[in-house]
Amino acid sequence: MRPSLLPLLVAFAAVVAAATLPAAEASYTPIANTSSLVIEQVANFSVIVYNLSNGKSLAFVSVVRGETERAVGGGTNYRLVILAEKTPRGSKGQFQCIVWGVPGTRSNTWKLLSFKAI
Ligand SMILES: *[C@@H]1O[C@H](CO)[C@@H](O)[C@H](O)[C@H]1NC(C)=O
Ligand SMILES: *[C@@H]1O[C@H](CO)[C@@H](O)[C@H](O)[C@H]1NC(C)=O
Ligand SMILES: *[C@@H]1O[C@H](CO)[C@@H](O)[C@H](O)[C@H]1NC(C)=O
Repeated sequence: MRPSLLPLLVAFAAVVAAATLPAAEASYTPIANTSSLVIEQVANFSVIVYNLSNGKSLAFVSVVRGETERAVGGGTNYRLVILAEKTPRGSKGQFQCIVWGVPGTRSNTWKLLSFKAI
């Protein structure tokens, strides 16, 4: 009787998937103090850029939580959950943004990588 190779192949495929998928996720670490000035500025920046480039009327309210990771090639990725308010009506909602930048540099070098309602 020939032993089947199939279970081995399935196990190998699972290991490959596990090794390639969540590598980027795993390197995010929680931000201890989301009220710090830098984090509020990053969050405010994301709302302003999103607002301007999409013709919305959103204003930054507060940072709910956030994580950072060292970006490949330098700088920092900020993944933040933000509370923002529609102006002038005032309904609030949560959004997740991802912002790249180098702390201490001018805002015109920073990039908004994604912004979505959650
Ligand atoms: C967080 O940062 C803010 C602004 O710098 C400060 O007022 C507050 O005391 C800090 N909170 C903690 C728990 O460190
Ligand atoms: C957000 O940025 C704008 C423009 O720089 C500024 O007027 C506003 O006070 C900032 N808001 C907060 C909460 O930091
Ligand atoms: C958002 O953008 C609109 C134009 O689309 C502008 O009228 C409004 O002042 C902006 N709001 C903020 C908070 O930047």
